[in-house]
Amino acid sequence: MRRMRRAQTMPPCAQLACALLLPPLLFGGGVLAICPPMCSCARGHRAVDCSARGLSLLPDGLQHNIGSLNLSRNRLQDLDGLLSHSGHLRTLDVSHNRLSQLPADLPRALWDVRAAGNRLRQLEKNHTAYQWNLRTLDLSANELERVVFINNTLPALRSLNLSHNRFWTVPTNMPHNLETVDLSHNFLVQILPGSLDRLPRLARFYLHGNRFAAVGGRAFSRLPGLRLLTLYGNPWACEDEERIAALLAWARSTPARVEGCPCHTRPICGGAWPTPTSYDADARDAREASQPPMQAVTSAYPSELGRGTLDDPQTALPSTPAPRTPSTPASTTERPRRSGKPGSGAGVGTGVGVGGARSATAGLTALTPAALALNLLLTVTGLAPI
Ligand SMILES: *[C@@H]1O[C@H](CO)[C@@H](O)[C@H](O)[C@H]1NC(C)=O
Ligand SMILES: *[C@@H]1O[C@H](CO)[C@@H](O)[C@H](O)[C@H]1NC(C)=O
Ligand SMILES: *[C@@H]1O[C@H](CO)[C@@H](O)[C@H](O)[C@H]1NC(C)=O
Ligand SMILES: *[C@@H]1O[C@H](CO)[C@@H](O)[C@H](O)[C@H]1NC(C)=O
Repeated sequence: MRRMRRAQTMPPCAQLACALLLPPLLFGGGVLAICPPMCSCARGHRAVDCSARGLSLLPDGLQHNIGSLNLSRNRLQDLDGLLSHSGHLRTLDVSHNRLSQLPADLPRALWDVRAAGNRLRQLEKNHTAYQWNLRTLDLSANELERVVFINNTLPALRSLNLSHNRFWTVPTNMPHNLETVDLSHNFLVQILPGSLDRLPRLARFYLHGNRFAAVGGRAFSRLPGLRLLTLYGNPWACEDEERIAALLAWARSTPARVEGCPCHTRPICGGAWPTPTSYDADARDAREASQPPMQAVTSAYPSELGRGTLDDPQTALPSTPAPRTPSTPASTTERPRRSGKPGSGAGVGTGVGVGGARSATAGLTALTPAALALNLLLTVTGLAPI
């Protein structure tokens, strides 16, 4: 397998011939781009893919001018300082290795760092303090319990994925320009006051699959940009009306779409944005909104938590149904089955709303053709059973 890949990526010169050819080229002083032999390279050897090569060490022969480096699915344990010379590196994928910390001294040009599926325990201040350009940071599926952000660092960060870690409290001091934060599948029980105060652009906030029983009534009310919040899969203290009432009231009235209304009052609440197009309905945003895929809202009460009274949350809380606003998606009907794959386009449905029947023309004009097609498709499939 590895051989084949190598054969494909090497120019059609046998290794012996190459060995004979290279020295003259080097001595000739020409700019020579080299691809590490076990990797494959594209875009003038500046996009280097060394994923799934069984590497436990950084391969030799990486050029300093590379723009993207994929080291995912290897056995790397430590890359500290080893990439600091790659000053043009924009994208680094070190997912699914054995790193116990994010490599120190990462180049400051980076836009996109993916380190999911490692053994990261802590994110040190040093690791992010100078990443002025970083837009996307994926640290999902690690062992993080906390991260320390210095005030006013990571100014360009738009997307932070901390899902499948060990957080029990929402990180404080999150970078101020974040638009997407995924904290799903942690052990979150609380949101400290003030943690969400200065996140004016936060639009997509994933909190499903945690251990929230209640959050302060005002927790989410200081997020003016919020469009999507996922709350399903939390053991809300529905029997304790006093603790939960403020959250329920907020969820009913927020313009944001809330997936998994606490206490199963409805699968979806909020969502009173005037028109679907007020959503940033370009394809990228729609795709982001679809991740992580919607899960069965009805699986929201982990039985291992043993909250007996929650077995029938419908009766646990006398719920007045939220007033339906005209733009509320048709949440009481069966939602079209999502494929479950990220990026499958389900987000167009999620973001734009699959309710379909409402004033289509006004909303559709601003959609991209692809999103339009998908929305129509979802609408059609949603209506099909009728
Ligand atoms: C790196 O390679 C893996 C597997 O080959 C692929 O799934 C992943 O998308 C790549 N990462 C980037 C940033 O392209
Ligand atoms: C963090 O930065 C300080 C000062 O530059 C340095 O002394 C320390 O070793 C760094 N720590 C790590 C973990 O890189
Ligand atoms: C960070 O900013 C917050 C809010 O402005 C402030 O309360 C806190 O003291 C700051 N922390 C540091 C270390 O400057
Ligand atoms: C975060 O990462 C998890 C697991 O790696 C993935 O399933 C999820 O879709 C990501 N979330 C976002 C918002 O991209």
